[in-house]
Parts: sequence; C-alpha cells; structure tokens
Amino acid sequence: MSHAWTFSPVIALRRLLPVPVRSLLQGLAFALVATQPGHAQNATTPRLDVPYVPTPQPVVDKMLDLAKVGRKDVLFDLGCGDGRIVITAAKARGARGTGIDIDPTRIQEAVQNAKTAGVADRVNFKQGDLFEADFSPATVVTLYLLPDINRKLRPQLWKQLKVGTRVVSHDFDMGDEWPPERVEKVGNKTLYYWTIREQHKKAAS
Ligand SMILES: C[S@@+](CC[C@H](N)C(=O)[O-])C[C@H]1O[C@@H](n2cnc3c(N)ncnc32)[C@H](O)[C@@H]1O
Repeated sequence: MSHAWTFSPVIALRRLLPVPVRSLLQGLAFALVATQPGHAQNATTPRLDVPYVPTPQPVVDKMLDLAKVGRKDVLFDLGCGDGRIVITAAKARGARGTGIDIDPTRIQEAVQNAKTAGVADRVNFKQGDLFEADFSPATVVTLYLLPDINRKLRPQLWKQLKVGTRVVSHDFDMGDEWPPERVEKVGNKTLYYWTIREQHKKAAS
C-alpha cells in the first residue's frame, strides 16, 4: 500500500481556519454523522450524546504522554468507544482503567479488545450514561466528546475528581470557565490538558 503524500484541498483549507472555527466545524461534522441512516436510533440503540468516532492511535499515545500515565494511574475514559485509550494505558503504561459507554455494542467490542490485548485483568468496561457515572477513583480522565458535552460535564469533573487528577480532551476544550493549562497539537488534532485544583473543589461544593 502506498503512503505517498497527496494534496488535499479540504485539509489545506481547514488549516487556514482559526482553531475555534475548526472545532465548531468538527462539532457540526460529528452531528452530521449522528444523523446519517447508519446511526439511526431505534428501540435497541441508546440515544448518544456524541457519535462514535475513534481516536487515531498516534493521538491516543499523545494523550497518555500529556497526562504522563504510568503504573500507579487509574484512567477513566468517559465515552470509551472500543476501549482503545483504556487498553493502551494498561498495555503500554501498566495502568489500570475503566471505560464507560452508553452503547452496549461498543462495550462488547471493548471487552473483546481487552481480552485480545491480554489486559482484561487490569481494565473493566461498563455500559452506562457518563452523566450518571461514578468516576471518582480516577487519577486520569480522558475525553473525546463535543464542546457542549464537555461544558455540561465540567461541574461533575470538579465535584467528583480528587485534587491532582489530570484531564485530557481530544479536540474540544471546556469553554471560558475552565481554560486549559496546556494545549498540544498532533498533526491537525488539538489536545487540551487540565488538572483538578483546590479552587475547583471549593467552587463545586
Ligand atoms: C467520539 S467517540 C470516542 C470514543 C473513544 N473515547 C475514543 O476516543 O476512541 C464518543 C463515544 O461516546 C459514547 N457516548 C455518547 N453519549 C454517551 C453518554 N451519554 N454516556 C456514555 N457514553 C456516551 C459513544 O457511544 C461513543 O462511543
């Protein structure tokens, strides 16, 4: 298979746009995916706040680098998809982890992927709504959601997480109420990094 670089006018145009405009367009693209026939909701599929779009592996690796994930960490991925972030944290960094996803198909895939990767004893996957989940044991939380879902989740992150817990989000920030401490690029992707501080716990109580 050839990996020769080819010019893409869409990518070139995207790079000319300011980051907030790109994020907005990406949010709209997510919403469009969610309304396609393949993503139609029926009696057996739960209502998704965010459609399933997996994080590319180089971006997963960079998210774990940014949070300095290691053996002592307990990583929660809220909206875990096929489990790749939790599984990579366990396999490559020796961490333990939990993935939560509202879609039972994703949870089945994640459980199988953890077995295949040989880390089923270090990770677990739970089907459920991230807005109803207890993620207080986390030392690291990873997110690939949407701007409005991040903003809605922010008070719960402040309330549940311990001081010092690291939070990394793929592509979307938390709005003006919680500016990131670090912003990193991986190709055309943006990663945002925060830590929970005493002031957040006070504001949440
Ligand atoms: C963009 S994907 C990210 C998947 C994975 N975290 C990754 O980065 O590869 C978002 C995931 O969130 C899940 N999801 C959407 N709404 C949810 C909710 N309310 N509670 C839990 N999971 C949800 C979807 O099923 C989907 O798998």
